[in-house]
Amino acid sequence: MRTKKPPPAARERLLRTARKAMKNAYAPYSKFRVGAAILTSKGQVFTGCNVENASYGMTNCAERTAIFSAVAEIGPKIEIVAVAVTNAQGVACSPCGACRQVIYEFGPDAVVFYQGKNGPRQSHITELLPEGFRLK
Ligand code: THU
Repeated sequence: MRTKKPPPAARERLLRTARKAMKNAYAPYSKFRVGAAILTSKGQVFTGCNVENASYGMTNCAERTAIFSAVAEIGPKIEIVAVAVTNAQGVACSPCGACRQVIYEFGPDAVVFYQGKNGPRQSHITELLPEGFRLK
């Protein structure tokens, strides 16, 4: 299932929006600032940044912050078409396993834009998360 690949202009816009969101990151422990932006099938964009905690495990990644913000704002009927992830270090950074599963929940056909080892990359969510978990 591969539909609705966003055009390059949409990708650049989403990456720019993610970079902007990155400025709000709360990352005093890792100093690794991350920003994310998601695009829904209705053309809405939501953003997130990582929010760390002294109890490290409570940290929320930028991608999940963006998705949870979207659900909080407009409800659970969202279809994620694309996700962009950026980090202030400009190093390789694809979504962590937990975020892949959360992206898959709302975007089983989503494309993810991120920084790979050799530059910008885009991958379908099922390439990043084969056999994602579904209850129904
Ligand atoms: N982080 C994200 O926000 N998104 C990712 O895709 C990778 C990791 C955050 C979590 C933590 O605040 C910091 O980066 C270092 O792991």
